[in-house]
Amino acid sequence: MRGKDYRAILQAASEVLGEAMHIVDARGTTIMYNEAMARLEKISVEDALGKPFRQVFSNIPEPESTLYQALVNRREIREQEQNYLNIYGKQVTTVNTTIPIIVDDRVVAAMEIARDITDIKDMSDRILTLQDSISAGAREGEEAKGAEAEDEGRARPSEIQRYHFEDIIGEDPKFLQAVDRAMRATTNTASVFIYGETGTGKELFAQSIHYGGKRQNKPFLAQNCAAIPESLLEGILFGTEKGGFTGAVDRAGLFEQANGGTLLLDEVSAMPYELQSKLLRVLQEKYIRRVGGSRDILVDVRIIATVNESPQELIARGALRQDLYYRLNVIGITIPPLRERRGDIPILADQFIRKYNGEFGREIWMISDGALDRLQDHDYPGNVRELENIIMAAVSMADEGHVLTERDIDIQRSYREGPAAVSEYDLSEGTLAEYLSRIEQTVIRQYLTANGGNVSKTARDLGMLRQNLQHKLKKYELG
Ligand SMILES: Nc1ncnc2c1ncn2[C@@H]1O[C@H](COP(=O)(O)OP(=O)(O)OP(=O)(O)O)[C@@H](O)[C@H]1O
Ligand SMILES: [Mg+2]
Repeated sequence: MRGKDYRAILQAASEVLGEAMHIVDARGTTIMYNEAMARLEKISVEDALGKPFRQVFSNIPEPESTLYQALVNRREIREQEQNYLNIYGKQVTTVNTTIPIIVDDRVVAAMEIARDITDIKDMSDRILTLQDSISAGAREGEEAKGAEAEDEGRARPSEIQRYHFEDIIGEDPKFLQAVDRAMRATTNTASVFIYGETGTGKELFAQSIHYGGKRQNKPFLAQNCAAIPESLLEGILFGTEKGGFTGAVDRAGLFEQANGGTLLLDEVSAMPYELQSKLLRVLQEKYIRRVGGSRDILVDVRIIATVNESPQELIARGALRQDLYYRLNVIGITIPPLRERRGDIPILADQFIRKYNGEFGREIWMISDGALDRLQDHDYPGNVRELENIIMAAVSMADEGHVLTERDIDIQRSYREGPAAVSEYDLSEGTLAEYLSRIEQTVIRQYLTANGGNVSKTARDLGMLRQNLQHKLKKYELG
């Protein structure tokens, strides 16, 4: 078969597979470049195919070009971030896996497969900028202590949900033991390790510790280690310095931003293993070094780390380093799941009814025995957050009247749809009321469509009065 035929086969295969692919021959001429890659790199297939790749990607210096490294230095590169301007000057961020193809000890080609992370990169930049403004707010807050200045529109800590110990509801003895340990943690700055299933209140505990202690006027920053691609997490935690990788800017990471305060590392076991040992070193030495930097920077940050699976299992599975665990677990707190403290369900439900009465302008005064039985019967894989969702939905949808009934409690939908709605809420979505009304609109629209526009049936399905639904349809301009 002729080389031209091979290339056609390869090109066709890559288009079908859909992965963004780029292959250059030994001389560096692009012999395969597919549509997916063209979309990623924001150029056209014709721009690259048949051309010397160094000419097309002239904005990438040789040491940073993954294809060049594979072709010339036989380097195999896995999941490496590449950040550059394309021939049209557009910013492109990809994560590349690049390998030299070696036949009889000769490099005959290099192949690159890329993933787009421009959006994720933007996200990490936004996180750092936002966190920066929050900690700047905290610093200002400290200077203006006492003066309750209301500065609208800025992400000041005062506008962000802050939890204190009085917000923590529960009377179960094992639960109270956890609260007691957390309270004692406010008197010092030792590391805290919190283990609790999702929705058990880890954030609530962490914030209560921070805002209940001497650091309360210093920044409290939180980062979920599972929410960020591994390649970006290090830069987010420790900051970056120009030259660290192409496109890197000088920026303080969360450790510097949280200096003097507290850094909550959620799901610390999702942190890559090597980064965990770096974190351990930082905790021992109290110095950080920005990615790509050479300066040691002294930091004083209290760490609160959380996991939602048993630390022993995480260690056994190789997800959590044992040495890091020992270093973090100076104050260990285990929050029992809700199904192991069912006695707390009624007081929690009461509290949430009061909260959402206020939120929705309802006047529910009590909960029926039948409703309470239903709540007691459930296992709550989503724990307190799930219970809160059930109550929120019940209060918002309840018929007129002052009693929450069995009929109002919709346990079916609580975990699948509810928790996501609450946990995904972020301040950029507007106020909580705006966010909730968008959710309400979506649900109503879905049911209305499914019922072919039949208002009575939709009202029945949603467990609300027809007049109530009519009112909402008018409000949302759906009717
Ligand atoms: N003991 C409690 N008293 C009052 N509210 C609680 C309690 N525990 C949890 N909540 C509420 O439940 C919700 C979830 O709590 P939180 O975000 O602290 O859980 P989490 O353990 O951090 O969850 P995840 O693992 O999903 O991050 C919050 O709205 C919080 O206010
Ligand atoms: Mg949390």
